[in-house]
Amino acid sequence: MGGGDRQPLSRSDRLIEGALVEASRPGAAADRVLKATLRAHSELVGAERARVALGVHGVRCFAGRLAHLLTAVGLPHTPRALWAAYRVDVLGEEPSDVAAALELPGAVAGLRRIAAGLVPWPEDPDLALAARRSIPAWVARRWRMAYGADEADALAEALNRPGPVFLRARGDREALAARLAAEGARTAPGALAPRALRLLDPFDIRGSAAWRGGAFEVQDEGSQLVAEAVRAAPGDRVLDLCAGSGGKTLALAAQLDGRGRVIAADVDPARLADLRGRVRQRKLTCVEVQPLPPDFPAAPVALPEAGRILVDAPCSSLGTWRRGPDRRWRTSPGEVEALARLQVALLGAAAERLPPGGRLVYATCTLLEAENQAVVRAVLAAHPELTPTPCLPHLPAFGATPEVELFPHRHGTDGFYIFAMSRPGGAGSARARSAG
Ligand SMILES: C[S@@+](CC[C@H](N)C(=O)[O-])C[C@H]1O[C@@H](n2cnc3c(N)ncnc32)[C@H](O)[C@@H]1O
Repeated sequence: MGGGDRQPLSRSDRLIEGALVEASRPGAAADRVLKATLRAHSELVGAERARVALGVHGVRCFAGRLAHLLTAVGLPHTPRALWAAYRVDVLGEEPSDVAAALELPGAVAGLRRIAAGLVPWPEDPDLALAARRSIPAWVARRWRMAYGADEADALAEALNRPGPVFLRARGDREALAARLAAEGARTAPGALAPRALRLLDPFDIRGSAAWRGGAFEVQDEGSQLVAEAVRAAPGDRVLDLCAGSGGKTLALAAQLDGRGRVIAADVDPARLADLRGRVRQRKLTCVEVQPLPPDFPAAPVALPEAGRILVDAPCSSLGTWRRGPDRRWRTSPGEVEALARLQVALLGAAAERLPPGGRLVYATCTLLEAENQAVVRAVLAAHPELTPTPCLPHLPAFGATPEVELFPHRHGTDGFYIFAMSRPGGAGSARARSAG
């Protein structure tokens, strides 16, 4: 089709444009906007729904790259122009077709330059990484410093691809794989976590009899490894200090096998309400929910000692970018500083509740020194009684290191940081381990 041909904007293009306008408002999240759009338009056929999802996800994820390209060819950053640039640059569509379909006749020349790869990247290497991989410049700078140019590039690239869906088997994973195969779902065992299964095709999880019967939970393999690092055993008392809606609480409860206690604490009542629902649904009697005051840990609260403590801290969540297309645009360096202060305080509060012989695990789903290594360093300096201890010694991939960093481009998981510490003395004592 020639560049001058006119055709009406298609239904999916109209909805993509509208959703992108909504998603760019302050406080909006593309995932939620997309869900609402699809719910409001049940008339869309399957291919249109997929197209709308692709457009909203793709443009929000690649917004940084697309903005660079559009600026360079003198086109505005309107939602429609961004979608046009995405179609040409990422989907490889023909520029004149795209310009005609989106009623942007004046954009043909610019789109052609984009399609031909004629737009130069910035000379500054941090800005070049930021533009090419569509990530904030301040993150590009920190990742290049921490990991080097090639690793930073591979990490950013991996975070631009949709993440796989992992399941955590509540029992034997081979048995679960066989049961799911009978339901029509193909899976492969996770390479790292002992109960992880990766779904190989789209599968209606909520419609699965195995899921309804409690045979598995949906949980990223990295998240499963965080719970593995706690190494709880039947009879333990476990404090899950930032339990949220309970992803890891449920995994910890499984480690107890019905004997012991998980105290699931959090400051967010809505997340705790979700957690309560999941605990009820799975009929778990060993989980006790403990709401925390909003200014915890500054505000005093009666929390018991526990021989196993997990601090799955609030963080900038860079490691989960592939789960939400515009998460990357919602964090600032200032927020990272505030989070780091809170993380040090939470880990310190946890250390105070760790009895001799106890094990404390710090985890985040981010990949920034300030929220990971620097937090651990500060807490170890303030609590010289804590000793780094092997994080996942029972899993062959990790050896005896106290620190595990998980990367999507290396491990196939979301990005995670895990560090294990112990308080020496009283090893194996009833006080350190008992649910009491
Ligand atoms: C990474 S999320 C936890 C995810 C959860 N563990 C899971 O596996 O689903 C961090 C949690 O920390 C909670 N949080 C934030 N500030 C907190 C504080 N001061 N004390 C305790 N929890 C806090 C948030 O409400 C959030 O649920």
